[in-house]
Parts: sequence; structure tokens; C-alpha cells
Amino acid sequence: MKKRVTFLTAAFQSFKKSRKRSEVRMKPLKIGHRGAAGYCPENTFASFYKAIELGVDYLEIDLQMTKDGELVIIHDSTVNRTTNGKGKVKDMTLQELQSLDAGSWFDPKFMGEKIPSFHEFLNEFAGKACLLIELKKPSLYPNIEIKLAEELKSRGLDKANDHRIIVQSFDRNALQRLHHLLPAVPLGVLVKNRSISRIADKDLKSLSNYISYVNPKKTMVSKRLIKRIQRHGFKTFIWTVKTKKEANLFNRLNIDGIVSDFPDYL
Ligand code: G3P
Ligand code: CA
Repeated sequence: MKKRVTFLTAAFQSFKKSRKRSEVRMKPLKIGHRGAAGYCPENTFASFYKAIELGVDYLEIDLQMTKDGELVIIHDSTVNRTTNGKGKVKDMTLQELQSLDAGSWFDPKFMGEKIPSFHEFLNEFAGKACLLIELKKPSLYPNIEIKLAEELKSRGLDKANDHRIIVQSFDRNALQRLHHLLPAVPLGVLVKNRSISRIADKDLKSLSNYISYVNPKKTMVSKRLIKRIQRHGFKTFIWTVKTKKEANLFNRLNIDGIVSDFPDYL
């Protein structure tokens, strides 16, 4: 039996611990990469609105921090690729960042889109979809984990052990710090370049003390890898699907979610 999982309630149900994957084969959750980055400038309000319109279960976002300690949503550690400015995010204030145009590089019709602060993003989108928050290069930003924890706690979003909020990162040290700050928030480790094949079973076991998701890059995915991840009790999201062919392929796997620039392909 295969059924479409839609939006918050169903997403929550799909994660109930009691569910046995062998009993009901759920279709993977639909996760909008940087919103709907195939259609709109990534990590902007336009992109997040589009993803919601396309019926995503989760919005995936990337977090970095400004010179004045504000959390902002941008993928790169510089503004060079996705705005009309130049420079490092960590060397600019929120006001400086938000004076930049984050839309025109993608298409002139998006001129005027801004780099959103995390605060603004939560005001607008928390509750409209589940959130998959990536801490990007946390080693560049001392105490970014504390800022994130404070922002989620101030909104009561730190009690999100129903998986409506998930935080992921490549950085396992940052994830360990987050686990202490936000013990109820599920955490995911991102893996690529076969790094997981080099993780011994005993290390995977210790990872499972604070990690709920192991999320591999699509190029390293195999049924064997998925089984290994699941055998250790992790859930798994695969990233990043960009074609219909890939969407069809991965939709057939027994995984928890797929991150895509084109969420409608899922
Ligand atoms: O959700 C995982 C994916 O977003 C990680 O890669 O480079 O797109 O942030 P990246
Ligand atoms: Ca990301």
C-alpha cells in the first residue's frame, strides 16, 4: 500500500515511532530545497511561497549569521552568487545584507527579493509547513547554535519532538552542542562522498544517541546504504533531486523524505 503524505498532521503521523515501515509503505515526504529553488531565487520569500503552493511537507533552509549576530537565510558564506553585492555574510550587518537584491540574479522579475532573517522567516512560515533547518558552516559563527536555540525557545518551537522542526548539519560538533541546547528537537547529520561507508557500526550506534536522521547525498544512495542507515534506527532524507527521472527513482525507495528544487516532481 502506498499513500501520499501531506502536510503537518500526516507528516507527524508518518514519524510516529510505533509505525512499522513494513506495515505501511509511505511515499517519501516532499521537501522543498531552499524553498522551490528550481523556480525562484533560493532561500527567499518568493521561493518559500512557491514551495508552499506546490504542497511541500517541509521547507529546507540554510542558516548563517551576520556581523551583528542575526541569523539569516542564505546558502553560501558570501553574498556573491545570490545577490548584487560582494562580501562575507559574517562581515556584514543585517541592514547591509538586506539592502542587497537577492532576486535579480535568478530572473529580473524577482528584483527586490531580500535575504530573509530567520526571525522574519519564522513569523511568516512557522506553522505553514514543517521546517528542515540546516546550520551551514557553523564553525564560522561562534555561538550560532545558542542563537538558534534562543530563537526556537522564544517561540516554544523547542518542544518539537514531533519532527515538525528538524535541524541538520554536516558539522557533528555543532549537532552535539545543539542536542544539549535543544534536547527535544530531532537532529540530522548530512553525509556525502561515501563518508558514511567509513563510519563503523559502533560509531553509528553512538551517533544514534543524539541523531535521528542520516541524510545522504543522492549520488551515494543505494538500497544497501538505506538499509544500513535504517538498521541503526535512523530516518533518512535524500538530497537533492533535480529531475523527474531522479524523482521517480527515489520515490520508489523506502525512505522518509526527498529534498528537491522542484517539489512538484515528487
Ligand atoms: O538538505 C540537504 C542539502 O540542502 C544539503 O546541501 O549544499 O544544498 O545545502 P546544500
Ligand atoms: Ca541546505
